[in-house]
Amino acid sequence: MDSRIPGLYKLSIEDRRQEVADRCDLDEEAIEALAAGGLADERADTISENVVGTIEYPVGIATNFRIDGADRLIPMAIEETSVVAAASYGARMARETGGFTTNVTGPIMIAQIQATDVADPHAAKTRILNDADRLIELANEEDPVLVEHGGGCQDVEVRVLDSARGGMVITHLIVDVRDAMGGNAVNSMAEALAPEIEALTEGTVQLRILSNLADRRLARASARVPPEALTDDDSDLSGEAVRDRIVDAWAFAAADPYRAATHNKGIMNGIDAVTTATFNDWRAIEAGAHAYAARGGYGPLTTYEVDDDGNLACSIELPIQVGTVGGATQLQPAARAAMDILDVDSADELAGILAAVGLAQNYAGLRALVSEGIQTGHMNLHAKNIAIQAGATGDLVDEVADRLVEEDAIRQDRAEELLDELR
Ligand code: MEV
Repeated sequence: MDSRIPGLYKLSIEDRRQEVADRCDLDEEAIEALAAGGLADERADTISENVVGTIEYPVGIATNFRIDGADRLIPMAIEETSVVAAASYGARMARETGGFTTNVTGPIMIAQIQATDVADPHAAKTRILNDADRLIELANEEDPVLVEHGGGCQDVEVRVLDSARGGMVITHLIVDVRDAMGGNAVNSMAEALAPEIEALTEGTVQLRILSNLADRRLARASARVPPEALTDDDSDLSGEAVRDRIVDAWAFAAADPYRAATHNKGIMNGIDAVTTATFNDWRAIEAGAHAYAARGGYGPLTTYEVDDDGNLACSIELPIQVGTVGGATQLQPAARAAMDILDVDSADELAGILAAVGLAQNYAGLRALVSEGIQTGHMNLHAKNIAIQAGATGDLVDEVADRLVEEDAIRQDRAEELLDELR
């Protein structure tokens, strides 16, 4: 499969869908689900409560991605202009140097059990750790299927916290959740162990819930962008200048949480769009990402350096909690189609792809910010929308849009006049 599809944007939506279907071997059901949005009322009613309808997002396809040696088309559901185009552009910039390389630490989630009113928290910690093997066994009895698939509770850790309400004993269950997001699995284990923890601590167990600071479930991606890919003939800046300004932008984010929040928002534009398209829990990923970014004082999730060959060396590391089994993905036919497009075999593989998309999204955004600014890109897309609304199709979309931008008159009446002239 080749993820380069020059001119995809010029096709009709139907032709684009067919192009992607052909490349990704989508069946009729998947094509129809993408066309129709796919979530029937009866199904929607089993996913949430007091359902009165459904709401749709556009699903766009980011092109050009090569990740760990394989080309991928990336389905992105998002209401913001320029995100899909920027991801595709970011992926294109890294293509000549081999694309993205990813690695993940493995699908390890943490469940927390909070015990309060413990008279001897440190001694209680030791009692829990002394009994760890039995606790692990009991936890695994909760999910024999997970254990059968090679996952399950692997370890028990205990922390004594000094809180505003006194000492607390916090037990962590370290659980390999395999290809699930894992929330249900680890929450069930934590709930099942609550009486045991209560007996061992002689305290009161209160919360029993996963931690979204999934710092044992990290995904990483890296890429190298040659300076010449960072500029074009219209730009006054050399590729080297753009490269250095991107490193400056990163240093700004590393020094300032006000900037880091926006820097990371740019990363999450890409990651959330793919998790939305696949019906994964983007709130979990958001919570994990920002908590991870705040470990040592809030900072950027990506890093930019210049390598020995003068390339922009780009990298990202963040927790990614996603599943390919269980969860809501299977309930939403269009989300299943998005998974077919991604063609992943495991949650780890999906996590690596998400990290690569977040990275591409980030440096594509930074490139625009340090050169022409992002409004130009927004305006170009806006101009295309206006051209299409005025009735332009095929090559005329670009011709009309370019003229609208040149004339600084991005209006439908002018688009209609131009269309008449060009026809
Ligand atoms: C807009 O949604 C995202 C950006 O603001 C990210 C950034 O500033 O790096 C362009």
